Order: sequence, then C-alpha cells, then structure tokens
Amino acid sequence: MDKLAIIGGRELYGELAISGAKNSALKVMVAALLTADTLTLENVPDLADVRQLIQLLTHLGVEVEREGSTLSLTTGDISSTEAPYDIVRKMRASFNVLGPILAREGKARVSLPGGCAIGARPVDLHLKALEAMGAQIELDEGYVIATTPSGLRGAEITFPFVSVGATEHSMMAAALAVGETVLMNAAKEPEIIDLAECLIAMGARIEGAGTETIRIKGVASLHGATHQVVADRIEMGSYAMAVGAAGGELLLKNGRRALLGEADVILEQAGLTLSDEEGGLRVTKWGRPTVGTNVETAPFPGFPTDLQAQYMALMSLADGTSVICEKIFENRFMHVPELMRLGADIHIDGQCATVKGKKVLKGAPVMATDLRASMSLIVAGLAAEGQTMVSRLYHLDRGFERLDEKLQSVGALVERVKDEE
Ligand code: UD1
Repeated sequence: MDKLAIIGGRELYGELAISGAKNSALKVMVAALLTADTLTLENVPDLADVRQLIQLLTHLGVEVEREGSTLSLTTGDISSTEAPYDIVRKMRASFNVLGPILAREGKARVSLPGGCAIGARPVDLHLKALEAMGAQIELDEGYVIATTPSGLRGAEITFPFVSVGATEHSMMAAALAVGETVLMNAAKEPEIIDLAECLIAMGARIEGAGTETIRIKGVASLHGATHQVVADRIEMGSYAMAVGAAGGELLLKNGRRALLGEADVILEQAGLTLSDEEGGLRVTKWGRPTVGTNVETAPFPGFPTDLQAQYMALMSLADGTSVICEKIFENRFMHVPELMRLGADIHIDGQCATVKGKKVLKGAPVMATDLRASMSLIVAGLAAEGQTMVSRLYHLDRGFERLDEKLQSVGALVERVKDEE
C-alpha cells in the first residue's frame, strides 16, 4: 500500500501528456468479445483497472497482447461464459461483459458488480435493457444468469434517467441483435462516442451517439478493427484543477476543451484560463484569485461527478463561498472529512456541500477513500503549506497513469513512499 508524500506550494509549469481514458478503454476492451477477429486498441492507459479487466477477458478466452499502449485482443472462441465474483466485484465496468457474451453465446453468468464505494450503484437499467431485447434473466447467489432462447432482438428502450454504463452495455448488445434498437435518453459522454466509433469501425451500424437518441441496426457479425482511445477528460480536468490550486501553466497534451463540456466555463469562472492549441489544452492560473462558484454535477455535457471532489479541493482555496451539489451518486462526499483535515471549511447538507474558501490549507496525513477522492487530496496537497501524506494510493493507481512521475515532470514535489505497515 503505497503513499504519496507531497510538499505543497510549488507552481506547476511545463507539458504533461494526458493518457487514454480509463472509462473508455475498459468499454472498448469489452467490445473485443463481440468479434472472433483481432481488435487492436491504441492509447490504452497502463492502469490497475485495465490489468484487472485483462485478467477477466483472459479468463473468458480472449488472447491479449500488449505492446506499450497498444492492446491486441482476439476472442476466437468464448471459452467461459461465466464472469466470477472475485474479478467483477473489484471493478464495476467488468459487468458489461454480460451483453457481449450473451450476444455471442446465448447464455452468460456474471457476478453482480462492486466498484467504488460511492453508493448503491445498481444495474437494473442494464438488465431491463437486455430483457427488452429478449434476454431472460434470473438472479441467483449474487450472479446474473441470462439466456436468450430466441436470440437478442432490437427494441425501443427509454432510460428513466441517464446511465453511462447502461447506454454502453445496450449499444454493444444491440450491435449483434436482430433488427433495430433505439436508445432514448441515452448518455452523451465522450466515452459513448468513442465506443460507438470503435463499434462502427468493427462493422456495427450506429447513428446518433453523442445525442440523446441512439439508433443501432443489428448486424450478423462484427470484424476486427484498430481504434484509438479518446483522451481522459477526467485526468485532464484533474490536472487543470491542480493548476488552479497550485498556480502555474501547463500544456495538457492530447487534451481539448470540448471534452470538459460545461466544466470549461465553470473553471474559467473560477479563475483559470483555458485555450485549445495544436497538441493540447493550455491551462493557466497566474495571479488571479480563485473565485467561489457554485456547481451541480450532471450527465455530460454537465459538470462531471468524477471531477466533483477535485473541484471541491479547488473551492477550498477560493475567495468566497461555493455550493457544490452531487446529483449523480449518493455518498460521494467521502473526501470531505479528509479535506477538512487540511483545514478546509466544508459543511454538508444532504446532497450539497457549502465550501467557505480559505487563504491557506495546511498539509496533514490524509486517506484516499475512492479513485476521484484521492485526486482531490492531491489537488489540495499541491497547494497546502508543508507536507501532505496521502495513504491508500492504490485507489489512485486504478485510474491515474503514472501520476507521481507526471507531477514531478512539471515541478511538483511529490514522492511515492512504500508503506511498510
Ligand atoms: C460511469 C463511470 C464513472 C462515472 C459515471 C457517471 C465508468 C467505468 N465509470 O459509471 O466513473 O462516475 O459513469 O458519469 O465508465 N444507476 C442505476 N441503475 C443502473 C445504472 C445506473 O440506478 O442500472 C444509477 C447509478 O447508481 C448512478 C447513476 O445511475 O446513480 C449514473 O450511473 P452511471 O451513469 O450508470 O455510471 P456508471 O456507468 O456506473
């Protein structure tokens, strides 16, 4: 269990490469189950979650080769239709193997997922969508047991609220269903567009990804393709907030403003300058105060829930007060007590947190509680006076590639410390 030691107060300058998006890579990797040919994926980040999914895919019969950031996945035959609890519990995204296994094999047994400790996170929308496409589903001893007695067929599915995972899952299953599927109130995240582009390159017929209505005309089979994973907007936004908190100027290579959705306006209101350049997104914070601005998380293009914790760290140092409301997940304020250990003034009332900005935060030992929460402690630690020691770094290693090296390369005083406990 590594820790990260941060000596705060250094401005960040230079260039930093944004990796491929974790949340996209995991889904396009699963898409490899839909074809017997080889799917080659470029720009895949080297992360604990990716390694975990490779383990599951290998168990299912996928041959995986990795060379740098390129992954080649070949699923000649699906050798097991079961995704065991031991693997799926560690990462929710792996639940999405259910639809593709079902589409190809007509049956699947997949454990109900685990993932971050950020609320209940059920999978009812995923299951309802598959049922609408003709799957028969039973729950038994923590497993979903699904069969398709007469194959998957197209359906009209209206999601009662936006779900990224359910939209992606339905899109994959529908790609091989008989007839047309229409997904209404679909998620519009850049990762949805990325998955659709990958599936289209594999021969799928999909229109409307990135809008709230997606139409998929099923095809009999998909073929191999090469696809490059989109840049990680959450990593990009997190480093932008690190600049906001610590000051300085970074070129976030491979990044672009549009990936931030409406968060770009919020960040500018908060005192950052953002500009698209050839090669990336330039983020600057010079001398201007951080302005307290209110935020409510929402599906894309709204402010991402995965940046809420980092934004709260930034607001802890703002001039004035901000109200931050979490509308996507319950129980996603676990970073608050840890930020308060650094001196932040935060009061939670239900889904909203009121943050009174402070002139300074002071370094302290803190504990990472989930993937994005750990990044908020780093954003705060980079700005705090003295040393912040973030323990349980494994949360961070799930989603941020080479974080310590990247921060060191732009002047931050951070060091990974092996924990002997
Ligand atoms: C994905 C992202 C995650 C991000 C989230 C919202 C991945 C691997 N993870 O998670 O980082 O925070 O989108 O942008 O891509 N819900 C249900 N029933 C369902 C499905 C979802 O009630 O069947 C609820 C969830 O509990 C949550 C909300 O819907 O309250 C949105 O969740 P969803 O968009 O599905 O998130 P994930 O796909 O799990």
